[in-house]
Amino acid sequence: DEDGKASSREEEEVKKVPTQEEGGLFSSIPLVQHGNFWISPHLLKSIQLVQEEFVPRATDVILATFPKCGNTWLKALAFAITNRSRHMLADHPLLTHHPQDTVPFLELPNRQIQPLSELEAIPSPRLLATHLPFSLLPASVTAVGSRVVYMCREPKDVFVSKWHFENRVTEKLVVELGLSFHLFCEGVSVWGPIWNHYLEYWNESKARPDKVLFLKYEEMMSDPVKEVKRLAEFLGAPFTDTEERSGVVDEVVKLCSFEHLTSLEVNSTGVSDRIGGFPMENSTYFRRGKVGDWENHLSAEMAQQLDSIVEEKLKGSGLTF
Ligand code: A3P
Repeated sequence: DEDGKASSREEEEVKKVPTQEEGGLFSSIPLVQHGNFWISPHLLKSIQLVQEEFVPRATDVILATFPKCGNTWLKALAFAITNRSRHMLADHPLLTHHPQDTVPFLELPNRQIQPLSELEAIPSPRLLATHLPFSLLPASVTAVGSRVVYMCREPKDVFVSKWHFENRVTEKLVVELGLSFHLFCEGVSVWGPIWNHYLEYWNESKARPDKVLFLKYEEMMSDPVKEVKRLAEFLGAPFTDTEERSGVVDEVVKLCSFEHLTSLEVNSTGVSDRIGGFPMENSTYFRRGKVGDWENHLSAEMAQQLDSIVEEKLKGSGLTF
């Protein structure tokens, strides 16, 4: 039957994921399918704990992204916007704290090791982050009316960013681009398929625009001032006319820009363990920060292949790249 066929196809996909010898960190262990998404098995328990134990608040804002879509940037921006009255630029926390450490992830580090109760201690309004697809967020997030900001990115650039990231965080340069690309096109990557991840949040943002804001990396890059103002409004912290006139929006944009963040010691040196048992260099979260870098890594045929898959999967949704 259809289901039977589908699951044997899935088993094939699992087998295609590179082994430890061939693959990088995120492909060292075969991915497993969970709620229509591919994930590392070590995340399963953490996700279950989030679903069972996370207590959302109406004032929460959850920053959601598919991996490599600009989560680090979004964390920095949301933190800078919502804390701007508290921090003067001269001694802003983002000058000495990695953006990743300004907003905690729901599902990371492994919640078996570092319990979710640490999130309870954060005063309202909380900024939280997640890679969970919308369908795997606890239903209570919607029920209590927490807000969600989702940031997506052009899929070819996401793939290229992901491929570099996986190779950087592995000791050996190992993930072969062609195989990784093939798997990505089949929807097999951590939290893939990317189009399902995008569509769930996209549809939710259409149904409940007051609760789910959908941003695109490319639009943020081409008009950061406009998008940051939109983000601030959604976060309930719109810039006042006086702030706009005195250049506060530009200051936030500059503070969180790729160029500025990468110039800071906290982001360019040192190692931290944010996943739990997997230390990574702080600079790993920053690479080129450009739109269209896929051109330097994918052939025209590869580009056309992924473009047509994505177009087909997003058809009728209104979401385009
Ligand atoms: P590239 O690999 O294309 O450079 P995430 O934060 O979700 O892991 O995404 C990482 C991607 O966002 C990387 O893309 C990284 O360079 C880029 N990035 C990080 N900080 C950024 C910033 N302040 N502005 C724009 N892009 C940024």
